[in-house]
Amino acid sequence: MGTVVDSIKDAHVSFPGDKKIAVVFVLGGPGSGKGTQCAKIVENYGFTHLSAGDLLRAEIKSGSENGTMISNMIKEGKIVPAEVTINLLQKAMLESGNDKFLIDGFPRNEENRAAFENVTKIEPEFILFFDCPEEEMECRLLSRNQGRVDDNIETIRKRFKVFVESSLPVVGYYDLKGKVRKVDAAKTVNEVFDVVKDIFSPFHKKAE
Ligand code: ADP
Ligand code: C5P
Ligand code: MG
Repeated sequence: MGTVVDSIKDAHVSFPGDKKIAVVFVLGGPGSGKGTQCAKIVENYGFTHLSAGDLLRAEIKSGSENGTMISNMIKEGKIVPAEVTINLLQKAMLESGNDKFLIDGFPRNEENRAAFENVTKIEPEFILFFDCPEEEMECRLLSRNQGRVDDNIETIRKRFKVFVESSLPVVGYYDLKGKVRKVDAAKTVNEVFDVVKDIFSPFHKKAE
């Protein structure tokens, strides 16, 4: 039997022909507004939104054999091994039939980044980075009210630490390549989206 990585590679082969896949990585601390802004980008620019965190939570719910491991990692704010997350992302990309993706909350660390590049050979168009102070993110997470097991102050502190130590270096990596589009996320949802719209202007607007 092949490994998970083998099956991802097989899946990659079945991306239709030479179809150019556009990927935008959406990064930012927990509560910076990634999901909120992605929903607006989808409405306006026809991307498919794939949140790595949402896919991992769905995997727990589906009763998969990885469910307990993923659940424990999320409760502790730790990052799930890349092969698990990439497998879910790649499946969702294939199932969507689309060729434009917002990949939200990924790559979260160097392991995520390098594995995605090795397995899919996809180079992101750019990185949309939501910059937000911790106090503002903490406030938003504590009032998010989506029943998430990780939106409590103890786990939030751990997630902030992981973000600074593991995720910000990935933003730095892409910044050196000139690929980071940094947005001040400490404004209202619409003010943030006004800036996001300018960044997405090279992509065609969806027909009304
Ligand atoms: P992320 O996906 O980055 O963790 P979310 O989009 O889920 O963040 O937003 C976290 C919480 O903050 C949600 O309750 C959302 O409604 C709220 N929120 C998002 N953007 C803003 C904003 N610009 N100003 C105030 N609250 C916001
Ligand atoms: O992005 P979101 O806040 O939904 O992520 C929730 C949790 O999912 C993270 O704190 C982490 O435990 C897990 N996750 C992960 N790897 C990713 C994205 C999320 O392990 N690339
Ligand atoms: Mg989110």
